[in-house]
Amino acid sequence: MTRPVIGWEQETPVPDHVFNDYLNSRNGRLFYEELDLAQLFLGGAGQGPGQPLSSPLEIVYLPRIRHQIQRMQAIFDQAIRTTAYEGAFYYAYASKANAAEEVIRTTLAAGAHHEMSSTVDVEIGRIMRARGLLPPGRLVICNGFKTAGSDYANNILRFKGEHANLIPVVEDLAELPPLIDSGLPFDVGLRQKSYGPHQDEAEMDSYNSRFGMDLATIWKTADYVAAAPNLNLRLYHAMVGSQIASPADFVAWLKPPMEIYARLRQRHPTLHIFNFGGGVPVAMTLDFHFDYDAFASLLLTTLQEVCGRYRVPVPDVMGEFGRYTTAEHGAHLFKIIAAKENNSALPWYIIDGSIMSSFPDSWALSEHFIVLPLNHLDQPFQQVQLGGITCDSDDVYPPKPSASPLYLPVETENLYIGFFGIGAYQEMLGGVKGSKHCVLPEASELIIDRDAAGPYHFEVLQGQTFSDVMRNLGYLAL
Ligand SMILES: Cc1ncc(COP(=O)(O)O)c(C=O)c1O
Repeated sequence: MTRPVIGWEQETPVPDHVFNDYLNSRNGRLFYEELDLAQLFLGGAGQGPGQPLSSPLEIVYLPRIRHQIQRMQAIFDQAIRTTAYEGAFYYAYASKANAAEEVIRTTLAAGAHHEMSSTVDVEIGRIMRARGLLPPGRLVICNGFKTAGSDYANNILRFKGEHANLIPVVEDLAELPPLIDSGLPFDVGLRQKSYGPHQDEAEMDSYNSRFGMDLATIWKTADYVAAAPNLNLRLYHAMVGSQIASPADFVAWLKPPMEIYARLRQRHPTLHIFNFGGGVPVAMTLDFHFDYDAFASLLLTTLQEVCGRYRVPVPDVMGEFGRYTTAEHGAHLFKIIAAKENNSALPWYIIDGSIMSSFPDSWALSEHFIVLPLNHLDQPFQQVQLGGITCDSDDVYPPKPSASPLYLPVETENLYIGFFGIGAYQEMLGGVKGSKHCVLPEASELIIDRDAAGPYHFEVLQGQTFSDVMRNLGYLAL
């Protein structure tokens, strides 16, 4: 089993140290870039929203989202220059990773195109459009199942009247009739069944996946689109996986779809965008390395090679970045409320919240995230295990199973810790508001922003009260 590095792995205190490009320690405190995180709870002069906050607390660090988008755009700009690629790059944000208003507002303001997958997503798009945050030139990609007569299919037709630059991606031949019958002038995309680690078209086509259309259906659907007077085939979609660790594997799995793209392009010259969907990885632990520059260059040169062989122009390239955009902007901070020795293998540190309902992937998929103390970093450490405050035996960290040791300071008086890299999917899977495991109220949220290297701005969104939870469960009148 690989052993992800999830934190400090020694008993000695942490010297002033750079953990990654946004977490560093100074004088025994942990900083998110230049923000002293312990100060949010302990107060003191300097940064902070004015008064000490209580834990648990969710952190939403918006500058990191902008950073991620700008970084990927710069990487592709550079790769386009060095490979003399004759197509453009489109960065789209896959909103399923985190659909919070402040996130969508930030991705759009940073210039991202927008990918969506459900009828409520369309409502979000409509609000953003009405508020002027979704400019007319921005592409909106509608993925997901949109069967005829569904709310999502109808809502897409309605949204088309408000935002012309909308591309429904056909998942299934049966999704086509509502688009044809609408008479509206749609650019459409086709989604290839391409998920999984395949080496050739036959293997890809026979993979067990519910997403996209097999090869025979893609060709048929492309012909129907070409025959429909109001439809224009513009985009080809092929997503091959999630959190893909190697640029070479990523591009190798994309190669069969590239070949199909090139053959489709020979027959349908309106086809213009190769969309590789999601899958671009991001650091959720401290040992992560992915060469984004190598990925971008290899992707473009492979497209050049394939399209050259079929004598078709290279496409514009689109990625739908979900996890990459939002994982690192989110952190969840807790206080250690008890340090318990009960003859277990390691001491238990109990936090004032739940691990499993805050980060469902840790118990459902044994996913690892970074965990670091916010204070006492200049004290000795010991190996421990973390327990959530729920009564659930799975509410623990490191996840089961794991070979990754977790070290935290021996000093537990007023000790605060943070889980980092949890900003994508975890909140969406755990649910926002509602009632959670062991009826624990949801934590407050601190939205943090700043202009360039200027002062921080803070906004506190109050978490749930006891009565909010009891009202949800029917104990109090609505
Ligand atoms: C169609 C589509 N696009 C993009 C994404 C985002 O993927 P990731 O979070 O790996 O970037 C997903 C995730 O499931 C998806 O289904």
